[in-house]
Amino acid sequence: MIVSLIVAVAENNVIGKDNDLIWHLPKDMAFFKETTLNHYVVTGRKNYESIPPKYRPLKDRTNVVVTRQKDYAEEGCIVVHSIEEGIELAKENGESECFIIGGGQIYKSVLEKGLVNRLYITHILESFKGDTFFPTFNEDEWEEETILTHLKDEKNKHSFVIKKYTKP
Ligand SMILES: NC(=O)c1ccc[n+]([C@@H]2O[C@H](COP(=O)([O-])OP(=O)(O)OC[C@H]3O[C@@H](n4cnc5c(N)ncnc54)[C@H](OP(=O)(O)O)[C@@H]3O)[C@@H](O)[C@H]2O)c1
Repeated sequence: MIVSLIVAVAENNVIGKDNDLIWHLPKDMAFFKETTLNHYVVTGRKNYESIPPKYRPLKDRTNVVVTRQKDYAEEGCIVVHSIEEGIELAKENGESECFIIGGGQIYKSVLEKGLVNRLYITHILESFKGDTFFPTFNEDEWEEETILTHLKDEKNKHSFVIKKYTKP
């Protein structure tokens, strides 16, 4: 099973502020949706709760929430108590590609532990003020491929490049 991480990162590595996203990029949201659709998505409890209630659980995906709270329950979600447990569950159920969808704590853990073998990173070509960051990682260990370049326009106010990184 491929274990992928998917994230949108500013030039200064910011990914969020006040438990929310900072930018609004419909084109990138569409990429996130089409990439993760019909797959397992594994999310930290804080990231999950930051999704507006009308959009969660994320539709047509198996939502797996990671928390240390033993009594945590969320309708329409599978609750697990470690990231590894979430990944294992996807594997046991025959998933082909499981997605780690954040946030900051979860991204840091999966990269440190080497739990992912593919990264989809939307590089936003600007810096932002925020309080949650994507960890630095050794790009030399990954093969890089550009998937899409989008220059800012009326609907997407910031230019971005989406890259796919694969562990050789
Ligand atoms: N730009 C992007 O692409 C993107 C994507 C996703 C999220 N974000 C942003 O990231 C921010 C949220 O990230 P965050 O770092 O604050 O929180 P997070 O990683 O979403 O969630 C942290 C929570 O996950 C649980 N957790 C973490 N590690 C665990 C482990 N090893 N075992 C069991 N449970 C574990 C804990 O839940 P309990 O406290 O319940 O125990 C912890 O408080 C928001 O601003 C969001 O908008 C940005």
